[in-house]
Amino acid sequence: MRIISFWGKGGVGKTTCSASLAVRLAKGGHKVLLVTSDPTPSLSDILGVELGPDPRVVSGSLYAAELDEDAVVERWKRRFGKEVYDVVSSFLPVGEEVIDYIAGAPGIGFEFMLWYILDKKSTGEYDFIVWDTAPAGGALSLVKLEEQLYSHLGDAAAMYLRVKSTLDKIRRKERADPLKLISSWRKLAEDVLGMLASPEFEAYIVTIPEWLGYTQAKRIMQELAAFSIRVRKVIVNQVFQREACSCKPWVRKSEVHARYLELLEREFGKSPGIIVIPMLPEDIQGEEKLLEFSEYLKGVS
Ligand SMILES: Nc1ncnc2c1ncn2[C@@H]1O[C@H](COP(=O)(O)OP(=O)(O)OP(=O)(O)O)[C@@H](O)[C@H]1O
Ligand SMILES: [Mg+2]
Repeated sequence: MRIISFWGKGGVGKTTCSASLAVRLAKGGHKVLLVTSDPTPSLSDILGVELGPDPRVVSGSLYAAELDEDAVVERWKRRFGKEVYDVVSSFLPVGEEVIDYIAGAPGIGFEFMLWYILDKKSTGEYDFIVWDTAPAGGALSLVKLEEQLYSHLGDAAAMYLRVKSTLDKIRRKERADPLKLISSWRKLAEDVLGMLASPEFEAYIVTIPEWLGYTQAKRIMQELAAFSIRVRKVIVNQVFQREACSCKPWVRKSEVHARYLELLEREFGKSPGIIVIPMLPEDIQGEEKLLEFSEYLKGVS
């Protein structure tokens, strides 16, 4: 079982690369789950199949799921809502509306996606999970939350122990043991961090050869490294190749791209290595086109 994830800023080609790789792996006989957590998903359009939060078969051994923002919040509430209420209400005089309040916190969506991937991994049902992550800014700062959550859970448990005896005296209703829940969350956070740092979890950074692409690729690389996530390659996508056209704007742009490609090569060429994909003239839509595109992803997996 391997989890292959694609990271990068908006519009660089994460969904295209994810879908293309998933199609190729499935054609190779593997059972593949392709998941997107893009808040404005485009996977349905790219695959030409209507998708929802539950995995459905696209064709052969390729399954896909699309979790938009609403689906994520809904499912988070279903999975964690009651637990969160039980814990928080044991500390504070709150009603069940606290569930909605916490469900709206930044980071919850990403938190949920990590759990979702872990959950799908633990079923052992798929050979590969290909994860098309939400555009960089959001997703990455949220991985940090995971770390903070993890370290704060210990504090929360300790604090709870200190006030437990008082709480026992004033508590009227019987409810799930908050301490047990807290330690189950701690275990969950540990499992998630363990999954991210494991050799089965592979990250690919997708970028473009422009200033923002260059700076963001560096930043994502550092942030992923902070979580011991292995970056296998940097994919430099949508590269304007000089010879493709002789019109002036294209030539200018291709010169800019050549410059940043060189910078990216210097930065990542030796380690972890780069894959260069040209800007293609046609749409990359439907399984056939995606399979063609996957020729560029031969260096992946
Ligand atoms: N090498 C390429 N050549 C030409 N077009 C490309 C190439 N790679 C991606 N595209 C196109 O660029 C657009 C953006 O790609 P895609 O949706 O995969 O990016 P994304 O990183 O997932 O974007 P978002 O952050 O919005 O989810 C799409 O229209 C896609 O077809
Ligand atoms: Mg996308």
